[in-house]
Amino acid sequence: MTNDIDRVLIPANEIAGAVAKLGKRITEDYAGREPHLVAILKGAVVFLSDLARNIHLPLAMDFMAISSYGVSRRSSGIVRISQDLSQNIQGKDVIIVEDIVDTGLTVTYLKELLEVREPKSLATCTLLNKPTGRKVEVAVEYVGIEVPDEFVVGYGLDYAEKYRNLPEICVLKERVYRDG
Ligand code: IMP
Ligand code: MG
Repeated sequence: MTNDIDRVLIPANEIAGAVAKLGKRITEDYAGREPHLVAILKGAVVFLSDLARNIHLPLAMDFMAISSYGVSRRSSGIVRISQDLSQNIQGKDVIIVEDIVDTGLTVTYLKELLEVREPKSLATCTLLNKPTGRKVEVAVEYVGIEVPDEFVVGYGLDYAEKYRNLPEICVLKERVYRDG
């Protein structure tokens, strides 16, 4: 697996620092409330588990799975729910937890979908942001780290379902995408 890595873009300690900062901000902003974290499977799972431990408030966690990419590296714009939430979010302070915002299509779709369910508030928290990838403008209240226009893996992010367990954010060698 390490043979496939071209270089480490964000080392583990830098990720930890960004996650701690996000947790602190959320803890302050949601003081006296009980945030309802909605993590997008599967990419946001690693981030969620660290983020939640940096939020010092009572909170709830739920999960939603959507698919938009298949094994390709670019968003198709077609997003579908493959697993819905297990809890009702009406009246809750919902925070969507994402691994990365690239085109913005996924978060835009999710916000529209969840807004209909009448949460008390709805915010988005992403570990990574790739602003150069945007196809639609979308407000993201909590951003951990901005990344350049490169496909990244690790810390939950995959390429063809692999590399999610890397502790740092990495760029893969070109041949990995070419040869599969
Ligand atoms: P968007 O709809 O283009 O904003 O894409 C968001 C989703 O695409 C993320 O939740 C990721 O699953 C996936 N994605 C976008 N960029 C990357 C990347 O660089 N590495 C891994 N997954 C990515
Ligand atoms: Mg993904």
